[in-house]
Amino acid sequence: MSLKNEINKRRTFAVISHPDAGKTTLTEKLLLYGGAIQVAGAVKNNKIRKTATSDFMEIERQRGISVATSVMGFEYRDKQINILDTPGHQDFSEDTYRTLTAVDSAIVVIDVAKGVESQTEKLVKVCRMRDTPVIVFVNKLDRLGKDAFELLDEIEEKLGLKVRPLSWPINMGDKFKGVYNLYERNLQLFTPSKQTVTESITFDNIDDPQLDEYIGEEDAQTLRDELELINEVYPPFDSEKYLEAQITPVFFGSALHNFGVRELLDCFLDISPAPLVRAAEERDVHPEEKPFTGFVFKIHANMDPNHRDRIAFVRVTSGVFKRNTFYHHVRLQKKLKFSSPTSFMASKQSIVEEAYPGDIVGIHDTGNFKIGDTITEGEDLNFKGMPSFSPEMFKYIVNSDPMKYKQLDKGIDQLMDEGVAQLFKGRKTGRKIIGTVGQLQFEVIQYRLLHEYGASARYEPITLYKTCWFTSKNKEQLEDFKTRKSNQLAKDKWGRDVFLAESAFALQMAQEKYPDINFHFTSEFEEE
Ligand code: G4P
Repeated sequence: MSLKNEINKRRTFAVISHPDAGKTTLTEKLLLYGGAIQVAGAVKNNKIRKTATSDFMEIERQRGISVATSVMGFEYRDKQINILDTPGHQDFSEDTYRTLTAVDSAIVVIDVAKGVESQTEKLVKVCRMRDTPVIVFVNKLDRLGKDAFELLDEIEEKLGLKVRPLSWPINMGDKFKGVYNLYERNLQLFTPSKQTVTESITFDNIDDPQLDEYIGEEDAQTLRDELELINEVYPPFDSEKYLEAQITPVFFGSALHNFGVRELLDCFLDISPAPLVRAAEERDVHPEEKPFTGFVFKIHANMDPNHRDRIAFVRVTSGVFKRNTFYHHVRLQKKLKFSSPTSFMASKQSIVEEAYPGDIVGIHDTGNFKIGDTITEGEDLNFKGMPSFSPEMFKYIVNSDPMKYKQLDKGIDQLMDEGVAQLFKGRKTGRKIIGTVGQLQFEVIQYRLLHEYGASARYEPITLYKTCWFTSKNKEQLEDFKTRKSNQLAKDKWGRDVFLAESAFALQMAQEKYPDINFHFTSEFEEE
């Protein structure tokens, strides 16, 4: 098969949601369609449950499982589908942000009763930052929830997405009768008492009196009225606009009851993007280009302290990746070849000979890779889109065993390469500050430093609201700011200056006092 055909066959995406909205259930149902798993419940084990927050063995065990489910590949219709898993626990959302750099589109799951929740907002914001096309699946229609129109308004308002329903629910909860699929123009009937899909009937014309027979006169009339309203209020579905992330199709269903999942998957395969062009700092890289390029978006450490090897997850961005071939590690300017790269088909890992754009390859790594590294056939390229976000929680990390400071330094360095958290070093004090998005990450770091590196560390509190990067064309203001704020400056992992804002007020004051300085809250910004 030609490279072009291989590319067109591939769909690489992530399912994202606020915890408990139904991401795991939906993923599992999608895998069942591909015959990738036989038993429901297989993906579930991957979840870091809320109850397990202080149970470290549980976290470790689940980290092990999550290697196997990091990428779930399967074939359905004539497509090769790669679902990239994202952590179930919101304290690991930075991992999710990075995984989103390796996908071409995303499916967002929303709980019909809870509507748009905080984590959904954050994740969709990351999708919007890079114009990733998004489809929304409103889940749990077998339960009572918010009015569908209200929910669409909420999605538009809170997520900043322009929506277009492609299916429409007929009641919900006990009275849920099914959905009308506007994309395929058919009626999907659901029998709540049996909790199953009973029938799928094609209805090209919604005025057909037969509709009344299936769902009753009253519901048929409501459906007709609502569909009319939809066509008046929302623009017609335009797949080009979806691909440009200008419009977001919305589906309704119930993942648990496998209702509306096939329709979602079928429509997804029709409209979703094949592997896309990727921007590198130097130029845009097209997937059809012959030379292989790829980047590392995730690093997974081995749980066994005696085998400190790690798996680097590489997303292929162009050309064909081949086993046992020398490639160029751009950051290290070094030639490397990989003898046992793995693929993740049907959630089994196996050695792969060749991989194509959109594929994810797992590479055994002994410490050569950092998140964001690029590999090529020789060209010096650096892919963009691996931003670090200003963390939300901060603590000083302090060595509590003077004999083991080397181990601690090494451990911290390696964990930061993996992207477990962010490290800042106070410019004046040299003190190390760990920044995370959740409390659990601090606990995991402490636990892993001890168990994998034999280093014991403790935390000390720091009053810190945000770390931000800053740039300015106004050299005078920049120098003045750096001199006056020297006690509140630190270096990030690339050695760049960051401002440690103690409070929202302090940040605001700095912004007002130095109007020519731009403060950045993600690490990816244009130098001035
Ligand atoms: P997550 O990955 O987004 O965190 O959510 P997950 O799929 O684990 O679903 C969270 C809970 O919601 C689960 O219940 C799941 O069974 C339920 N759920 C998912 N889809 C539907 C749906 O369409 N309808 C209804 N009524 N419930 C749904 P749980 O009790 O927390 O877990 P479990 O005991 O069922 O495993």
